[in-house]
Amino acid sequence: MKFDTLIKGGTVVTAAETMKADVGIVGEKISAIGANLAKNAQADKVIDAKGKYVIPGGMDVHVHLDMPFMGSCSCDDYDTGHRGAAKGCVTTTIDFALPYGKDSLNKALDNWMKRAEKACVDYAFHSAISDYKRHGKEMKSIIERGVPTFKEFMIYANMGWQSDDDAIFQTLEDCRRLGGMLLVHAESSKVLDVLVERHHTPELMKKYKSRLHTMTRPHYIEYEAIQRAVTWSEVTGGKLYVVHMSTRQGTDIIKAAQERGVPVLAETCIQYLVMNDDVFKTKDGHLYACQPQLKRPEDSERLWKGLADGTVCNVSTDTCSFTRAQKAIWKGDWNKIPMGMPGLETMMPLLYTKGVLEKKISLNRFVELCCTSPAKTMNLYPRKGTIAPGSDADIAIFDPKAKKRVDHKKLQTKCDWYPVQGWDLAGFAEHTLCRGKVIVENGKFVGKNGYGQFLPRKPFSY
Ligand code: URP
Ligand code: ZN
Ligand code: ZN
Repeated sequence: MKFDTLIKGGTVVTAAETMKADVGIVGEKISAIGANLAKNAQADKVIDAKGKYVIPGGMDVHVHLDMPFMGSCSCDDYDTGHRGAAKGCVTTTIDFALPYGKDSLNKALDNWMKRAEKACVDYAFHSAISDYKRHGKEMKSIIERGVPTFKEFMIYANMGWQSDDDAIFQTLEDCRRLGGMLLVHAESSKVLDVLVERHHTPELMKKYKSRLHTMTRPHYIEYEAIQRAVTWSEVTGGKLYVVHMSTRQGTDIIKAAQERGVPVLAETCIQYLVMNDDVFKTKDGHLYACQPQLKRPEDSERLWKGLADGTVCNVSTDTCSFTRAQKAIWKGDWNKIPMGMPGLETMMPLLYTKGVLEKKISLNRFVELCCTSPAKTMNLYPRKGTIAPGSDADIAIFDPKAKKRVDHKKLQTKCDWYPVQGWDLAGFAEHTLCRGKVIVENGKFVGKNGYGQFLPRKPFSY
């Protein structure tokens, strides 16, 4: 047998099994997997993976790269964001093609395709409906362009993106008819507005500073909105995917809905698993501003349980990086701060270190959560998300024991702060391959801008 690349002597981990095996690659695809493949094979390049885990390239299905937002623009783009992805074992990202002003969905998708011209790893997009009356008519053509997932925000009237129940209900009907899936940012805007107005007085802003973030967004802001979206999914039969779920009550609602057969899935983000709202008591608390905000340790615990039992299907990052200077716009007012945090490079190391090494999830479930399930739920499986003959040769190799201390100065992000600065994490890639090409070698990024390819996706079956 002749391969272009042979990964030799490693422990191959998929969602289903863990085995000592070699992996042979021809061109962009995995060609063979076997216990002693190396014995009778030739290869142009051999990667020694002895003592290492060999896993499918990961997928972050929720990123915002180079996104104009709240008077700023997220500072990590398809260059720094994707370099970080590769170093953190991620070989596919899915970003949101957002419309601004009177943009059509097709124009928004063109805009994001342009941004992604410098991609280093593969990518897909979610479309985002901000004006159902206009955008609803474009859903069919967007699906034909390989984008069957649509986002609606229940908040962000300030950005012109807010969708109300009428839009969500009708989009779910359309999804069912056309083979789409609706992604929802679930927060209850009307009650949120009341609480913000009540709390954003000069006196309270001065008194509570960053803590005001949690005071204006109690748990019911999220779980009431999740319940409502689930109801519309239940009655229309349209597939629903709740993004960045942060609450224990939300998780219970999803579990109950799934048990009654509602076609609803939910992701959480790594930050809701490993951090909590105590950060808002610190001097730099405002840097952690994101929507929904970090919650309590009990919520993280429930989300971990949801990951273990399958209620929560994916872990993503919602990467939306802003520097200290960009965050400084707020001057004590939460309405002004650009919301979001960096995370792409550390998502898999965090889930591995805090999940697998601390025995909250198994090694195979880790692979399932970051690789296989995102590929399945976003219609990219089995091209992506597994190590099997015929799949894209997207592979990450890491030393299960080697820990590195997180330091934003050494990460690829443009951010001059980092949510998990100083944490010791295992699970950074020693080697990463994307479609057969080595893009991280011995921990160093060696990929190229423009290598990443757009991944068109098929409609969902109903
Ligand atoms: O605060 C966040 N999450 N920023 C990114 C936009 C969003 O709502 O996902
Ligand atoms: Zn959101
Ligand atoms: Zn987001």
